Amino acid sequence: MVNKIALIGAGNIGSTLALLAATKNLGDCILVDVVEGVGAGKSLDLNQASCVENFTTSFSGSTDFSTIKGADVVIVTAGVPRKPGMSRDDLLAINSKIIRSVAKAIFEYCPNAFVICITNPLDAMVQLLKETANLPSNMVCGMAGILDTSRFKFFLSQELNVSVEDIQALVMGGHGDTMVPLPNYCSVSGIPLSNLIEMGMISQQKVNEIIERTKNGGAEIVNLLKTGSAFYAPASSGIAMAESFLLNKKKIFPCAVYLNGEYGVQGLYVGVPCIIGSNGIEKVIELKLTQEEKSHFMKSVNSVKQLLEAIPKSEE
Ligand code: APR
Repeated sequence: MVNKIALIGAGNIGSTLALLAATKNLGDCILVDVVEGVGAGKSLDLNQASCVENFTTSFSGSTDFSTIKGADVVIVTAGVPRKPGMSRDDLLAINSKIIRSVAKAIFEYCPNAFVICITNPLDAMVQLLKETANLPSNMVCGMAGILDTSRFKFFLSQELNVSVEDIQALVMGGHGDTMVPLPNYCSVSGIPLSNLIEMGMISQQKVNEIIERTKNGGAEIVNLLKTGSAFYAPASSGIAMAESFLLNKKKIFPCAVYLNGEYGVQGLYVGVPCIIGSNGIEKVIELKLTQEEKSHFMKSVNSVKQLLEAIPKSEE
């Protein structure tokens, strides 16, 4: 049986997700977008690319949510991206309305799917999606930590002049200014970052600058693009999560997951490391944090809570 991947939102991230899913042969893709012709047009284009690339994936597009029926994975990017000067939180009012309608469709047509939310402001949108769709918490998660970590890794690799493949790193917390990059959990080919600092390969000040740049990594791209936000790395990150679920790879990724007492947090989506396999979020990994890391993490948790409180109530 071929897997069915429903991509809700066929804009920049949605269409890149489809292309990556095909290159990895993960399953057939249905692209649903509220704008007439967008899903259909992108999928026709992708089907034609298949003739060159020899993808086995079939793509179809629609405005009709019933086409997601029976999907194994749903990746949600429906919403509005940032423009220069906007924070992710500025998207709250408009995107919460969209997420409520998407969540109802998922509940109706594919309540057994593994659902990955990418729409911003991420931590609030994934919580709203889970609560509105009323799905089990192991099957609904948000993509943020892999992306934030990829930015941290890239900047480090540039500074150290080493292959990005050799860098292990971790960014926790909410997907916003309060995210928590964890240099203590960063190593290069097994060499702890602290050793590299001692060896003079990178200064502490440079690491601090990279942490700040990572926190502003999304805004940096928004300011360059001017008309939208990042889409290649967000799509790669979403596909890595979908792949670990579909192939039961049991990869450890930082993702926005529902905490049920872990890290002292109850009933809230926040970015932490977890294992993704065929049962969705199979385990939350509870790291031993220093007092300072804990206090940064709790600050991030509080800002996620404030964001949730700011979601406009449903009109119904
Ligand atoms: N149902 C389906 N699709 C929708 C809906 C809806 N209710 N509302 C909007 N869309 C579609 C838009 O028509 C658009 O094609 O979502 C798509 C979003 O695509 P882009 O504008 O290109 O935005 P993108 O860069 O893909 O980002 C999407 O992910 O990272 C976040 O901040 C980003 O919230 C934004 C989302």
